[in-house]
Amino acid sequence: PRPILLTRHGESRDNVRGELGSFIKKKLANFVEKRLKSERTASIWTSTLQRTILTASPIVGFPKIQWRALDEINAGVCDGMTYEEIKRNMPDEYESRKKDKLRYRYPRGESYLDVIQRLEPVIIELERQRGPVVVISHQAVLRALYAYFADKPLKEIPYIEVPLHTIIEIQMGVAGVQEKRYKLMD
Ligand code: F6P
Repeated sequence: PRPILLTRHGESRDNVRGELGSFIKKKLANFVEKRLKSERTASIWTSTLQRTILTASPIVGFPKIQWRALDEINAGVCDGMTYEEIKRNMPDEYESRKKDKLRYRYPRGESYLDVIQRLEPVIIELERQRGPVVVISHQAVLRALYAYFADKPLKEIPYIEVPLHTIIEIQMGVAGVQEKRYKLMD
């Protein structure tokens, strides 16, 4: 049995700052080091974005790999805008996304379908791994990865809840897929 552990990054400008960020990072490092203590072939995968690399930084003793394919959905011209700003300044874009969040592609950016497609090599590699993998990534990407392993329908992907400060452990066995969740804080 080789678990896959999915988790969102512990800090960013948008969600968790400073003190809380470093608290979460330490919690995650403790969790991972304990959970994978006797595993020789475990590895830690992050995106190429600073917030996942920094989240992984206190974890020691395992090789780390950065994948561009694990970067967050590219919001193109809407990058850095709040949903309110998009609604106000680009109402047609806002409406199109609301109507079909799975297929909607941000101008000069990506759709969920694009993200799902670029994750294919990551999934192939994950399935090839002999040891556990900790994947530290972002909300949209983790929705897609989780959906693949938990066998969720395509249309649900953009709405799946991937909470912060939570580790979703997926275990693939003969009896199918098993899932456990661990909270890093209450
Ligand atoms: O909320 C964090 C975030 O990672 C954003 O940067 C990203 O655009 C978003 O989640 C994806 O969520 P949604 O597709 O629901 O807008």
